[in-house]
Amino acid sequence: MSEWDDAGRSLAGEPGGSARGRDAEHGRPDALGRERAAEYGGPERERDAEYGGAGGLERELVSAELGGDELQIEAALRPKRLAEFIGQGRVREQLSLVLESALRRQRPPDHVLMSGSPGLGKTTLAMIVAAELGAPLRITSGPALERAGDLAAILSTLAEGEVLFVDEIHRMARPAEEMLYLAMEDFRVDIVVGKGPGATAIPLEIAPFTLVGATTRAGLLPAPLRDRFGFTAHMDFYEVAELERVLARSSRLLGVDLPGDAAHEIARRSRGTPRIANRLLRRVRDFAEVRADGVITRDLAAAALNLYEVDAEGLDRLDRAVLGVLLRKFGGGPVGLSTLAVAVGEEPETVEVVAEPFLVRQGLLARTPRGRVATAAAWAHLGLTPPPDAFGAVLFGPDDLGGPL
Ligand SMILES: Nc1ncnc2c1ncn2[C@@H]1O[C@H](COP(=O)(O)OP(=O)(O)OP(=O)(O)O)[C@@H](O)[C@H]1O
Ligand SMILES: [Mg+2]
Repeated sequence: MSEWDDAGRSLAGEPGGSARGRDAEHGRPDALGRERAAEYGGPERERDAEYGGAGGLERELVSAELGGDELQIEAALRPKRLAEFIGQGRVREQLSLVLESALRRQRPPDHVLMSGSPGLGKTTLAMIVAAELGAPLRITSGPALERAGDLAAILSTLAEGEVLFVDEIHRMARPAEEMLYLAMEDFRVDIVVGKGPGATAIPLEIAPFTLVGATTRAGLLPAPLRDRFGFTAHMDFYEVAELERVLARSSRLLGVDLPGDAAHEIARRSRGTPRIANRLLRRVRDFAEVRADGVITRDLAAAALNLYEVDAEGLDRLDRAVLGVLLRKFGGGPVGLSTLAVAVGEEPETVEVVAEPFLVRQGLLARTPRGRVATAAAWAHLGLTPPPDAFGAVLFGPDDLGGPL
């Protein structure tokens, strides 16, 4: 049986299925992979290098990814129970139903997948699942599961009802993934002993458990894996009002006095992401301690964030450089990604992966088949006046300029 063969080869250390290999297969940018590996004690991040030094600080500040020294601070600020978890109303309600019905039936709940951008609370929710169930929690990550044996070692020692959290589950190696299918469905793994035609698979019962997977890239999950989750929590970016509540809570925990209007000022610059909100709060607190005896006001928060070059909409230096070049040098586009990247002195990948998603989400930039295009909002954001034909030409192309937009 192919399952057995695969498991057997993987246990023998088949090299072909490493997470890195699969990433390459999916065309996943390696820079991201390297950055995220740092969370698990992997190689040092290369973000500063990536930015050529300039602008590195600002980028760190509004990056949704976890910084190296932030693990402990984040742990302290993490909500521990569902009732403390702010925002994501739909996900919270869905999840509480799943958990409560499991508790009533006294059975482990269905496997849960958390999907969403970095810093939105996937790890936090995974921990909450275990806490709400009163179950022990085991934590691992996709990149750590290179061989099926790595996974077998964990699965075979799970206690009944335990929650297994696999972060970055899309980066798991294929042999481990296949072992996981069987474990999720039948609570069984096949341990393969021996090699070649003489290999024998010994089925091993494992205790019923709940898998909680987290991914920033649900699209990269193979369908058979995705289908084995009973519930997928799709996490959205947070509203400003929700981030204000996150900030109010965090400031209480940090012992910082944060007036509501200052919280609003920080929240609107936080890119819809609690991790960024908490990080900006710490920078504002530092600024207040040094410049204002620790007293935070709205104006002080704005001044602090301006100092760190995080503007009123959360754009940082690179974001503004991209927009600035697009508007000033290319009249709003369309312009190709690589031309744009050369003009701002960055790698195309940095522009594409780091700056563009947020600019697109803010409605400041559009990706079209003909190239990158600035929207009317982009001109307004930089305080510039678009040329009269800017939008007609972009939206309809030169062939069908019916009229101005
Ligand atoms: N709903 C929330 N309420 C309050 N704080 C939150 C919420 N969601 C996230 N946070 C805060 O944001 C920080 C980041 O959250 P978390 O680590 O769960 O994100 P993540 O989605 O797992 O990110 P990544 O994709 O990088 O792993 C946490 O330390 C937590 O304090
Ligand atoms: Mg996480």
